[in-house]
Amino acid sequence: MNILLLGSGGREHALAWKIAQSPKVDQLYIAPGNAGTAQVGTNLPVMADDFPALKQAVLDHHIDMVVVGPEDPLVKGVVDYFRADASLSRIPVIGPSKSGARLEGSKDFSKAFMLRHQIPTARYFSVTKDNLEEGLAFMQQLRAPYVLKADGLAAGKGVLIIDDLDEARTELRNMLDGKFGEASRTVLLEEFLSGIECSVFVLTDGRHYQILPEAKDYKRVGEGNTGLNTGGMGAVSPVPFANEVFMKKVEDRIIRPTVEGLAAEGIDYRGFIFFGLIEVDMEPYVIEYNARMGDPETEVVMLRLKSDIVELFEGVAAGRLDQCQVTFDPRAAVTVMLVSGGYPEAYEKGKVISGLDQVQDSIVFHAGTKAENGQILTNGGRVLAVSSYGADKQAALAKSFANARKIHFDKVYFRSDIGFDL
Ligand code: AMP
Ligand code: GLY
Repeated sequence: MNILLLGSGGREHALAWKIAQSPKVDQLYIAPGNAGTAQVGTNLPVMADDFPALKQAVLDHHIDMVVVGPEDPLVKGVVDYFRADASLSRIPVIGPSKSGARLEGSKDFSKAFMLRHQIPTARYFSVTKDNLEEGLAFMQQLRAPYVLKADGLAAGKGVLIIDDLDEARTELRNMLDGKFGEASRTVLLEEFLSGIECSVFVLTDGRHYQILPEAKDYKRVGEGNTGLNTGGMGAVSPVPFANEVFMKKVEDRIIRPTVEGLAAEGIDYRGFIFFGLIEVDMEPYVIEYNARMGDPETEVVMLRLKSDIVELFEGVAAGRLDQCQVTFDPRAAVTVMLVSGGYPEAYEKGKVISGLDQVQDSIVFHAGTKAENGQILTNGGRVLAVSSYGADKQAALAKSFANARKIHFDKVYFRSDIGFDL
């Protein structure tokens, strides 16, 4: 079969690497892809949210299945677009409908959903300009620090955690006034949960689900989890505290009620669900849902997933995911992200990358690269995800760090403490 994968980051290179290993695949296309995806498939110059151009690509290349990497096309309704078009409606798309993608696209929706289905999460109150006084009263009852979240997508920047009550009040007003544009016309105030975070992923066909390997990502730019938030500086799988006891609680209290809740509400959801969890006193709570895989978590989850992912996708499309087998590689997998100097603030692109041919015993997924005149150039803040297996986390990290040091571009930076807190 021919598969079209949407997206252009490290997540997509890792998905493409895994999809390309399936004997079921004839041609793999990636739209728009990067220099790494071009090594395992064919890049198409089509943006992932340009639906008419995607339609043309699907028809031109006789695509049998579409896999959606990032959230943007999902939140904009790519699945609904395919379902509504007579020439596309029979082609399965791995990803939720627009209505399902609200789990990620609207934090107000996702919190209310969790409340309706008794899924454990932080207490919250949803504020607009119309109920500001009630919001301020709710905030007064909370203890510091104060968590303020933009309802809509804000490129990962829409969450503020503030120690001082007066400052939190001011920021609440700023957000309602459009600090994050339309995304913060509604703001969620949340109780602060203190604990250790991990990411759990499932694939669902809307009725059944299969749990994939869990992972922990490192969001802050600086060592010791300091500095600004990024898209993610590295990841580790497995996560030691996500043991059998913890995962049973996650499945019983969070995963099953979520899948059943979506079905009960008539929401068409056939794709990945990413549960951003926090463990507080051994109990799991949902911090957020995403309607896609994580990045850089995918770069370790795909290493640990032994099953043929295309068979799983076929199970999703056919509504018989219960009949699929998911097996995990027992080894540890880690990834260390090489980023452009200055990221997540201003950084330069177009720097020549060297040393990739020196890498041994790691898999380098490209996150932000492009090929030009036979060279590979940086093309984003996150550039390369150096990913390795090991008998344990330490052994895997030693490989990733050793290989990361062999790769050069102007102002390259990476965190040399990924996994330090596990
Ligand atoms: P989110 O975009 O909802 O995942 O939030 C971004 C980050 O803010 C999370 O990964 C957490 O580290 C932190 N965070 C969000 N909500 C809470 C909360 N209620 N309590 C503590 N930390 C939180
Ligand atoms: N690594 C976090 C995310 O993909 O949202």
